[in-house]
Amino acid sequence: MRFYDCLADEASFLDDCLRGLAAPQKALAPKYFYDHLGSQLFEEICTLPEYYPTRTEMAIMEANVAEIARLVGPNVELIELGSGASVKTRLLIERARPALYVPIDIAERQLRSAADEIAALFPWLHICAVRADFTRPLRLPSFMGVPVKLKVVFFPGSTIGNFTPDEAAALLRGVRDMAGTGARLLIGVDLKKDKRTLEAAYDDAQGVTARFNLNLLARINRELGGDFRPERFRHKAFYDEALGRIEMHLESRYAQFVHVGGRRFDFRPGETIHTEISCKYAVEEFQALARRARFEPLRVWTDPDRLFSVHLLIAV
Ligand code: AVJ
Repeated sequence: MRFYDCLADEASFLDDCLRGLAAPQKALAPKYFYDHLGSQLFEEICTLPEYYPTRTEMAIMEANVAEIARLVGPNVELIELGSGASVKTRLLIERARPALYVPIDIAERQLRSAADEIAALFPWLHICAVRADFTRPLRLPSFMGVPVKLKVVFFPGSTIGNFTPDEAAALLRGVRDMAGTGARLLIGVDLKKDKRTLEAAYDDAQGVTARFNLNLLARINRELGGDFRPERFRHKAFYDEALGRIEMHLESRYAQFVHVGGRRFDFRPGETIHTEISCKYAVEEFQALARRARFEPLRVWTDPDRLFSVHLLIAV
């Protein structure tokens, strides 16, 4: 297993924080959720009864793995964006038998341990783990040790939902240009559904999602020497039907101020830091978005309850 650290500059967390907290609508990018503790909390979210995306996507993959494996084909370069614990990927590797696996993630410890586990399970597989922020222009190392022609990009979990439709189209366009004409994109996309199901998935009874959201403040304290008191904030998640997206915020319970990087930031009671969007798409809506990035749909799979979709597309 080889490992590349392509995370450009470590200063950006501080810069992004200072800029995000100074804006009229305070905001922090969701990629900053994923320090080590945040990655562990996210894995816990994936097992919650209310959080249907993980198990539903896995069920779709399991039910259709023979067809997916056939369409993906053997001996490809399998690039995974936001690989996390690489659980769904195991199924794909086992059945499609790629030559090379390139997991890309921002969380180093989780990336290393997931890649080690994959290496132990599939001794015949070449693995090149890349620590990177895929929201920035991504220049993968040009030679990964194995000559493979076809690239297949796996982007599961509906991580694409963390971007606005315009951002998502731009991101996929970058993916398309990196992977080249003829490349395949296998992407998990959460479907639009009723508000109650969606809001429960992002505000679970055990409060794990609340802890995941609030960990961002604790992370700022740990890494940037901030003095947030997380108990003075409350987790908020709601579905905006018009925009077709979940929004997560951290709401200030009181009038208060905090310091980060030697600067002071004031909060009104009820003022929020916007921490995440999670956009939901009808099948055709997502296909239209992908076309803007020059991906043509080949096939789409959903579960019987129409909660989640897995799309296979080709770069044209
Ligand atoms: C990892 C982006 C797919 O948006 O559903 C889970 C993150 N946030 N609960 C999502 C998340 C709150 C998740 N993604």
